Amino acid sequence: MGKAVLGVIGGSGVYDLPGLTDLREERVESPFGSPSDTLRFGRIGGTEIVFLPRHGRGHRLSPSDINYRANIDAMKRVGVTDIVSLSACGSFHAELPPGTFVVVDQYIDRTYRRDSSFFGKGCVAHVSMATPVGPRLAARVAEAAEAEAAPVRRGGVYVCIEGPQFSSRAESLVYKAMGCDVIGMTAMPEAKLAREAEITFATLAMVTDFDCWHPGHDVVDVKAVVDVMKDNVERARRVLARLARDFPAEREACPAGSHRALDDAIMTAPGA
Ligand code: ADE
Repeated sequence: MGKAVLGVIGGSGVYDLPGLTDLREERVESPFGSPSDTLRFGRIGGTEIVFLPRHGRGHRLSPSDINYRANIDAMKRVGVTDIVSLSACGSFHAELPPGTFVVVDQYIDRTYRRDSSFFGKGCVAHVSMATPVGPRLAARVAEAAEAEAAPVRRGGVYVCIEGPQFSSRAESLVYKAMGCDVIGMTAMPEAKLAREAEITFATLAMVTDFDCWHPGHDVVDVKAVVDVMKDNVERARRVLARLARDFPAEREACPAGSHRALDDAIMTAPGA
């Protein structure tokens, strides 16, 4: 399967990853455009890490303006095999309060103005998204969070909205009734593109607020999100460092088939 390289996509509040040794930065261009920032390469223990802040340093890019295809393509080009994507999120459950880490296992995509595939026009492919997260990778992330004494929930449905506005109360109640556990603006189309790129993917969602479904909870605002993220960034970094230290040197076969997602996905006849 070859060497494992761990990609980390930082979300709101996570614009760097201290503790990397042999650090170097490189701007990697993609036929799909420019990634959000330079890629930062380094190591933790024996594991090679590639870090990319999704919104760019200084948080310049809104969720709709991120070039997700360039980000995932750049990571693929430099050999990333597994991605852990960090994401601030709202919660639909009293028992998932701010400060909880959720290792998501399903997504509902409610975005509508993002390029969400590498394929189309000339080469058509349909990958499976039935099991969008690599179960082994997700288990490693959860184990690392537990070992760092982070309040963590294994599994959860993440609804990804277009934003940049937060949801209306009616929308929030609909998502809750649909069975969503957390809500954010960025995990899609990352998860879809990673699957098309045959990269194993997991989301570590960090609850910052209760969205707006409950009249008894404060309405979500940016200050609340940023304040909770400040408290959680250190812990998230420790979880990633532990994950990296315990990461296998060789890429693992993914039970969800991430590593060979294109084997049976391409519709277009060769040479057509
Ligand atoms: N990111 C953090 N909290 C959020 C919320 N309530 N809705 C959408 N994205 C979020």
